[in-house]
Amino acid sequence: MSVLVTGGAGYIGSHTVVELLNNNMEVIMIDDFSNSKPQVLENIKKITGKDFKFYEIDYSNRKELEKVFKENPDIDGVINFAGFKAVGESVQKPIDYYINNVSGALVLLDTMKKYNVKKFVFSSSATVYGEENEIPYVETMKTGGTTNPYGTTKLFIEQILKDIYKSDNSWDIAILRYFNPIGSHESGLIGEEPQGIPNNLMPYIVRVACGKLKELSIFGNDYPTKDGTGVRDYIHVVDLAKGHVKAIEKLNKERSGLYIYNLGTGIGYSVLDIVNTFEKVTNQKVPYKIVERREGDIAEFYANAEKAKNELGWIAEKSLEDMCRDSWNYIVKNLT
Ligand code: UD1
Repeated sequence: MSVLVTGGAGYIGSHTVVELLNNNMEVIMIDDFSNSKPQVLENIKKITGKDFKFYEIDYSNRKELEKVFKENPDIDGVINFAGFKAVGESVQKPIDYYINNVSGALVLLDTMKKYNVKKFVFSSSATVYGEENEIPYVETMKTGGTTNPYGTTKLFIEQILKDIYKSDNSWDIAILRYFNPIGSHESGLIGEEPQGIPNNLMPYIVRVACGKLKELSIFGNDYPTKDGTGVRDYIHVVDLAKGHVKAIEKLNKERSGLYIYNLGTGIGYSVLDIVNTFEKVTNQKVPYKIVERREGDIAEFYANAEKAKNELGWIAEKSLEDMCRDSWNYIVKNLT
């Protein structure tokens, strides 16, 4: 199978490309390096011992995208990782987010239609469940009530995909709702590198542990959770990447349908669970202080991961210890 991967040099994209190549799929990658580095390409080749085609283009540039489809008539399906993903930035720059994420996805889908490529895997997020659902989140729950433009772009694209499928059921679409991806490939060659000061928990923790940041601020310890800190479903990025392989394989084998899957472990860990496990596994200290709750945060959420298990034969296999060890390994090899 030949798969076009947009945003393939990014955090989740690069790990997915590794798993696609490990499963003997042919990969054509697009990235504009707006949030990634060219070195990632070499590192993917080092990990897998395999090669792939690469185009340095913006996925929303119709003319350049068409060239990719013209030059690669064997593309069977597309996995779309291209898109901006910083929640805080999306509040400051909503137009940029709607243009890049939503208009970009439309250009991609329209070009796919033109070249009759109709298998599409989309990186969505648990953020589409909004703030009002009961946990654990199940795919059939209502979506909406997103609290920032980033989340709303995910919601809009999900709706666009549902409308496309309704209009033409020869499309095969998998919407993957990620929970909280952390960790990195065990080689330490690829990983997460947010620009500036990180907003997400694990990127912040590793920078405190290596001395680049002074201390972690824990956003609230008065939530109705086991220790008062926020609870999330952290998933190892390699497990997440493997979920994409299962999804695109399903679209290639069976037709047709629009499928929605949660990709999470089904287990909730608190901020303190993460800090304590990280300290135990890495032998590093993570100084922290408790501060006010962060606006827009909710107390607790995790996935019901049964549907992906039953229909894709996929489960997250790596433990929280693995996630902490591999997050730290990447930092030791790259940032310290
Ligand atoms: C956030 C986004 C979500 C996005 C996801 C990507 C918000 C409100 N939500 O989810 O839309 O899909 O990232 O992974 O930004 N925490 C601290 N101190 C920190 C950072 C985080 O205590 O410095 C806590 C948070 O309060 C939360 C937990 O750690 O309880 C996880 O936070 P984070 O990694 O930012 O992920 P989410 O908020 O779940």
